[in-house]
Amino acid sequence: MQDQEKFLIAFFESYVDSFTGLTPEQQNNFTIKKEHSLRVTDNACELANYLELDDEDKKVAFTAAVFHDIGRFKQLVDFNTFNDEVSADHAEFAVEILKEKGVLKNWNEELQHLVFVAIQLHNKLSIPKKITERELLHAKLLRDADKLDILKVLTDYYTDKSNPPNHTLTWELPTATKVSPRVAKEVLAGKLVSKSEVKSELDVKIMQLSWVYDINFKPSFEILFSNRFLEKIYSTLPKNDGIFDIYRKVKVFAENKLMN
Ligand SMILES: [Fe+2]
Repeated sequence: MQDQEKFLIAFFESYVDSFTGLTPEQQNNFTIKKEHSLRVTDNACELANYLELDDEDKKVAFTAAVFHDIGRFKQLVDFNTFNDEVSADHAEFAVEILKEKGVLKNWNEELQHLVFVAIQLHNKLSIPKKITERELLHAKLLRDADKLDILKVLTDYYTDKSNPPNHTLTWELPTATKVSPRVAKEVLAGKLVSKSEVKSELDVKIMQLSWVYDINFKPSFEILFSNRFLEKIYSTLPKNDGIFDIYRKVKVFAENKLMN
């Protein structure tokens, strides 16, 4: 790791450690988000290498990944939730923190701007149309790196029954055996399911399957398949025709992305 990368990671870790008086549950969630951020950074570096980005763009991808969720810590302490809908936009928090602390103050404006834009867009349902090619590259890269790790965390959680329930992963929604009609409609139409349509734990998993429509790069699909994320989610779902149709739809879509 280069000195600058070491400095950024050290800054991130000392920021996280600066919160005191946390409950054991908060501490646990801090650790989860900290480790997530570091794995997303690894994913971002892997994608940046695969895409053969130049050193400047690699630096932007690395930095946006390290700090993309830095707003989560303040969010959890202030609101006791990771749900943006009922608290605040954690991506905006992240940008505020970076600006306030002057972490990137010696960088040129363009590169700082790219980091901020990638972070701001990492948690939005879609990427706005009117952005530059370079902004788009970084927004897509961070979204893929982030989703791949969320899929890893969720599938580990779903497939290891010894895990204690974690309300930040299940959102404390009721269980169900049928997918909500609007959720089914969206995913079968090839659309990303919006959080606002999600009514049950089952819908959450269907929404996660719908993320295949929002994965941008071929190496991301390679990671998706090599880790069997889709199969792992499917294996935890009730078995009926409606659910099988959804699974087949997203799987075929992802397989085509891998081949083309
Ligand atoms: Fe995030």
